[in-house]
Amino acid sequence: MTDWSTLIRDVPDYPKPGILFKDITPLLADHAAFTQVVDELADGLVFDKVVGIEARGFILAAPVAYHSGAGFVPVRKKGKLPAATLEESYELEYGSATIEVHADAFTPGDRVLIVDDVLATGGTAEATVALIRRAGAEIAAVSFLMELSFLSGRDRLQGLEIRTLLTV
Ligand code: PRP
Repeated sequence: MTDWSTLIRDVPDYPKPGILFKDITPLLADHAAFTQVVDELADGLVFDKVVGIEARGFILAAPVAYHSGAGFVPVRKKGKLPAATLEESYELEYGSATIEVHADAFTPGDRVLIVDDVLATGGTAEATVALIRRAGAEIAAVSFLMELSFLSGRDRLQGLEIRTLLTV
């Protein structure tokens, strides 16, 4: 077993002064660590499809889907998906963001595992949960590599099974 948490690198003042960015690229570059976290994100959970949230969520969610024998569905920033979509907007520190999913991405009753790299304020994950439910699917669980607990994002995901592999 690798202590993969040591492979998450702190980068000060990125993307702007005062922010301490958690860079997962050294972890991704380490095969043992990468495969271990992919396994842990889904271990013991039951689901039919995996949703990855653009962009870093894709890196983790796609191998989870492959490894689990489940389908993969991308949730993307507005304007990136080609067919008919459902969309949800949410507030950021300054302004708002909109994410989309293809309206026909799920079979009714699909159990969905949502995967992303970081749970921060929870706005992105909360909007993703709303999108998936509107598309006719159920949330099996929400798995994150890392939770920034001081931002209390899990408060916006009440009633859901939440898995976080590392709490900062
Ligand atoms: C980051 C991260 C999560 C989200 C978490 O994505 O990958 O998706 O922010 O923040 P929240 O809990 O406050 O909503 P970002 O928007 O930076 O996109 P990226 O993965 O494309 O860099």
